[in-house]
Amino acid sequence: MIIAIDGPAAAGKGTLARRLAEHFELALLDTGLLYRAVGLKTLGGGADPSDAEAAVRAARSLSPSDLEGAALRSEEAATAASKVGAIAAVRAVMLEFQRSFARTPPGAVIDGRDIGTEVCPDADVKIFVTARPEVRARRRLKELRDRGVDAIHGRVLQDMKERDARDVERDVAPLKPAEDAFVLDTGDMDADAVFATALDFITSRDRSG
Ligand code: CDP
Repeated sequence: MIIAIDGPAAAGKGTLARRLAEHFELALLDTGLLYRAVGLKTLGGGADPSDAEAAVRAARSLSPSDLEGAALRSEEAATAASKVGAIAAVRAVMLEFQRSFARTPPGAVIDGRDIGTEVCPDADVKIFVTARPEVRARRRLKELRDRGVDAIHGRVLQDMKERDARDVERDVAPLKPAEDAFVLDTGDMDADAVFATALDFITSRDRSG
């Protein structure tokens, strides 16, 4: 089974993906981490993340050790990720890895921006997780502060809106719900309620199909 989870920044994709992967005993892939790693690697090489040649070089040379480290969770990495993610040639490099991960039995829960639309258009389940920007910024702020990172709400909200806009407006694999996605607004839900609603959707769909 392949479960595709997409949505904007800090909508709760990661938590839901982890819980579904545990529940269904599937592998888990956070594709945001891949783009964050390419973004940081490009920066680390002294280039601008919008520099297509440098970003493609970073994507091609990505190794498992690039996917470790606290810096990947920084807002700097998120911004760099959204810049390298707007480059078609970078996305092409990432595509095959993500597809072969998804195809490996028994399947996977994969979260990102374009999983239901581009990476796995045939996924068994597609969920688009979303919430109002203010709610998402509050969640991201808490996450940052819990990690000891000093941040202010206004700045987090602004960075997030800019990143969302870049993700929605880009030409290649823009952020949008797949036509057959279940849209789940998590604005007034805690993580348990989000999980329960998603599970309900998946099992009711199994019964009807
Ligand atoms: O954790 P958060 O939702 O804030 O971000 P993320 O999932 O780690 O993704 C960081 C950035 O990587 C996004 O804003 C996108 O620009 C890019 N990304 C993408 O283009 N395609 C994906 N499948 C996943 C992430």
